[in-house]
Amino acid sequence: MDFVHIDSFPALLTDEGRRLLDLLADHVAADELSLATRLRRDHDPELIAAALTQTRLRQRGRAKFPGDADRMFFTPDGLEQATRTSVAELRAGRFAEGAGIERVADLCCGIGGDAIALARAGIAVHAVDRDPLTCAVARANARALGLADLMTVECADVSEVALDGCDAVMIDPARRTARGRTFDPESYSPPFSFLTTLAERVARGAAKVAPGIPHEIVPAGMEAEWVSDRGDVKEAVLWWGDLARARVSATRLPLGDRLSSRAATRQAPVGPVRRYLYEADGAVVRAHLIAELAEEVDGTLIDETIAYFTSDRLVGLRLTSVYEITDVLPFNLKKLKAVLRERGVGNLTVKKRGSAVEPEEVRRRVKPTGPHAATVVLTRVAGAPTMLITRPVAGAG
Ligand SMILES: C[S@@+](CC[C@H](N)C(=O)[O-])C[C@H]1O[C@@H](n2cnc3c(N)ncnc32)[C@H](O)[C@@H]1O
Repeated sequence: MDFVHIDSFPALLTDEGRRLLDLLADHVAADELSLATRLRRDHDPELIAAALTQTRLRQRGRAKFPGDADRMFFTPDGLEQATRTSVAELRAGRFAEGAGIERVADLCCGIGGDAIALARAGIAVHAVDRDPLTCAVARANARALGLADLMTVECADVSEVALDGCDAVMIDPARRTARGRTFDPESYSPPFSFLTTLAERVARGAAKVAPGIPHEIVPAGMEAEWVSDRGDVKEAVLWWGDLARARVSATRLPLGDRLSSRAATRQAPVGPVRRYLYEADGAVVRAHLIAELAEEVDGTLIDETIAYFTSDRLVGLRLTSVYEITDVLPFNLKKLKAVLRERGVGNLTVKKRGSAVEPEEVRRRVKPTGPHAATVVLTRVAGAPTMLITRPVAGAG
């Protein structure tokens, strides 16, 4: 269990601490014991322990902060809660495009994931967090990345911070309590009601919320944007003032493809299974924008509760993958095994929506062998558990 202590953290920022961190950059866990023994000849054991912990965190941080993690500082919680660079850059880009936005308050800044991206977009950031160690880490990150001129860090409760002089505000409340992750927006720290009053105090801003936020609590006039990165929905963010560009939107990274609607969301019609299966990105599903996409191909849902639609038309749609359906079969793994064997399918992809069966279980039971590829979709069609055997479509944009 990694633990970063506020008393030993400053030593990592000294010349000796930095040299030690450089030395350890690519160490592997298996070597830790012998390394620590060797280093004890020249360094304080507490510093060595702190450097080893920091190195492990940096190595873990590479996934979220590619290119930066090896120069950054983390706490375990700070790393876990930080906004990854790709998503933070997307958000910072919208702030940077806002007319006259030169200074942003980043409330609940954590170790600085969002603040760093804002500063890199050329915006001066006043970052606030109430945890002293987290603030020390955020300051260290600003210096390590050459952004100290653009970033100030204040250790305070955000409810007590004056926001005069800020052109816009960003808030990313903590979404975990002592008992773990919380899904109740009023249990965020600070609570959701603080976010909504913040919008009354500062004319423009953004608040990061959990992707599961109920649509009905999004205040009137705000845009709720769901963001996915490489297929996984990462977060939702509420925009207000002239930073809001729609009522709901979905953005898929890494390319930033976007789908949005100014109106309240609608339910797509349901119909029989047709030739092409369209699978919208999770951000589109969360944003309830399936009907907008289905309309573009005269598509219909296969079930009123499932976010797959089919159409006889083959069109490359934004934020959507498309498959050609070769078979529609009632759910039966024996039958699936027989069909796939007959077709020599060894390269099997299993997808599911609305099915409790685990893809791994299917692969284990079906034991695919052969030179061909197929994707099987476990789902429900008009309420009935169904297997759709599909193949990828060439030329669907
Ligand atoms: C989700 S993290 C922020 C992550 C950050 N956006 C990033 O990308 O690194 C939430 C932070 O809010 C801080 N926090 C929670 N309640 C607070 C409050 N009332 N005042 C100030 N900070 C608070 C926590 O200490 C935690 O660091």
